[in-house]
Amino acid sequence: PAAKCQAKSNGRCNNQIRKHEPKVVDMIDVEDIAEKAAFCRCWKTKNWPYCDGSHGEHNKLTGDNVGPVVVKK
Ligand code: FES
Repeated sequence: PAAKCQAKSNGRCNNQIRKHEPKVVDMIDVEDIAEKAAFCRCWKTKNWPYCDGSHGEHNKLTGDNVGPVVVKK
């Protein structure tokens, strides 16, 4: 499965998020975070820049072990 994933992505991490932009950058004001927020690091979420749990399926398919970064206020 890992080889299949690599072939599909051409070595890219990002296959779906704001592909029209030269570089995806997000600025989050810590004051806008209620208590804590989980930010995606696998690029598979449907709720960018937040983690939606999609890393679980990615890890299962590829043998990867990625997960979000959680910011606590
Ligand atoms: Fe990407 Fe959770 S969905 S880290």
